[in-house]
Amino acid sequence: MNTKSIVFDGSASSDGWIDLTVAIRHEMVHYPGDPGVELRQTKHLDRGDPATVSHLSLGVHTGTHVDAPVHFIGGAAGVDEFSIDAMVGPARVIKILDKEICTAQDLAAYEIREGERLLLRTNNSTRCWNVDAFVEDYAHLDVSAAKMLAERRVRMVGIDYLSIGRGPEGPEVHRILLAAGVVIVEGLDLSRVDAGFYDVVCLPLKILGGDGAPARVAVRPREAPASRRRASKAPEGTMRAVVVVPNEKKVRLVERPVPRPPGASQVLLRTVEVGICGTDREICSFEYGTPPPGATELVLGHEALAEIVDVGPEVTWARPGDLVVPTVRRPCKNPRCAACRQGRQDFCMSGEFTERGIVRADGFLCEYSIEEEQFLVPVPRVLEGVAVLVEPLTIAAKAVDVFNTIHSRFGFDVPRLRGLILGAGPVGLLGAMVFQAQGIETHVFSREAEDGARADLVRACGANYVSAGVTPLDRLSERIGKIDVVFEAVGVPEVAFGALATLAANGVLILSGVPAERDAISVDLSRWMRDIVLKNQVIFGTVNAGRSDYEDAIRRLEQFMVLFPEAVLSLLSRVSIDQAPDVLARGRGIKDVVTFAA
Ligand code: BGC
Ligand code: ZN
Repeated sequence: MNTKSIVFDGSASSDGWIDLTVAIRHEMVHYPGDPGVELRQTKHLDRGDPATVSHLSLGVHTGTHVDAPVHFIGGAAGVDEFSIDAMVGPARVIKILDKEICTAQDLAAYEIREGERLLLRTNNSTRCWNVDAFVEDYAHLDVSAAKMLAERRVRMVGIDYLSIGRGPEGPEVHRILLAAGVVIVEGLDLSRVDAGFYDVVCLPLKILGGDGAPARVAVRPREAPASRRRASKAPEGTMRAVVVVPNEKKVRLVERPVPRPPGASQVLLRTVEVGICGTDREICSFEYGTPPPGATELVLGHEALAEIVDVGPEVTWARPGDLVVPTVRRPCKNPRCAACRQGRQDFCMSGEFTERGIVRADGFLCEYSIEEEQFLVPVPRVLEGVAVLVEPLTIAAKAVDVFNTIHSRFGFDVPRLRGLILGAGPVGLLGAMVFQAQGIETHVFSREAEDGARADLVRACGANYVSAGVTPLDRLSERIGKIDVVFEAVGVPEVAFGALATLAANGVLILSGVPAERDAISVDLSRWMRDIVLKNQVIFGTVNAGRSDYEDAIRRLEQFMVLFPEAVLSLLSRVSIDQAPDVLARGRGIKDVVTFAA
């Protein structure tokens, strides 16, 4: 048998794609006990037939293939249910050549991030594919590694031989990954790829309910960092910026120097658009916000969409021309803050964090800015016109993510949930879209009339609108029933806690608004406490958002643009930077957006 043809057959094509697929051939190596491969020509031109036609018989776990949840979990999803999105996109190849059993500890050094697609190159690639017999001592993951990847919620993990696990714990390794929704890719030939960042395409056959399927898998390197620095000259001179000067109680449009070229791990951003929200308006009324240490001015703007202009030599994935949304919060430096130390500064425990455009760090309401690559989230071009909504959407995305965690504590199924949104501002309306898209029966309660523009927008998303003028909060559940989940986005304590009266047993009240300081309000606390305890209710607050919430928000926004694009677009009302101080003083549309002409 010519074993060579099993090995990678073809070099990287001129367009940069590297095929990682092992060719399927008659009697090729397969996992012991699985069906073998038969490939025969039932008709052949050489035999005088009008065409050559082959018959192929093989196990679905042959060669380069994916495993579906139903492979190890009864009744779970088949390979036909994998989303294309999970299998196509940025990926990282990591090389662990000296380990036969790869553990969580071996992976720890790679700082694996949530949502990553990982391809693990072991010495299998050069050892296993050029022999005919099945190689028994192939490199694989152990249970600790599988648990870690499941916890990090990686989207894909690929390995370069016929199973991700081995021996008695092999099934458990599979179950852990499959239960976490990780796409397992096995049988890759990674002998031609180095560690680094790539785009991957993995398209398995759509076998209905299939427990696996052969796949064609290829990667293409993202440009090498060194060659990435733009030759085109970086902008020079000054740029416009909107600043607040708390000492003088002024908001000003000023000229500032364009930032210097990016440092090694930084990028230079050109701002595309910046959204304005209640927080910005509070900063402009000097109730909130702090300039950077030593400065008297704070550059505003935290809801940004930007394009990368230039990158430092050590950035890994960012490229000039990429569209990105910067996250808002930056970690504190306190060594005891576990949250910031692990990249979850939205849960900062010391309170010493900074927030761009809000607390102790300049924002993005200026033409150019510098940012560390690690704080940027890439956005697909198709979302360019709406991606300025990503940051406010992360607030609702994080809230719902926490809610889903709380809700999952039940060991039983709950019929369709009923949700209530308090407030029809941008965060409330985006929250309504999140609820609605997730199949929650959604009601929005706000001040505006039931025949107003916001009510129309709510109905355009398939949700119901209730005006406070028609139905006061304490009469609300008579009209729509008890509520399983309330998302508060008004910042008015009477409204927020007034909603407790509408809450069903096991209900959850999510608070996201930040009220101004006021005189104390007196309430019937013992009634609240009795209800909360006797009905297993949960009240939680949520602020800021983590990287995974940004990625989630981007996916949701894409979904909204399919479900109710008109509603999304009608949130936005654009102004130029000259009009920014004006719009900061008094809002115009639902979500005012400062747009920077290219
Ligand atoms: C921002 C959050 C921030 C919060 C408090 C909000 O407007 O969206 O990112 O954490 O204000 O400063
Ligand atoms: Zn905001």
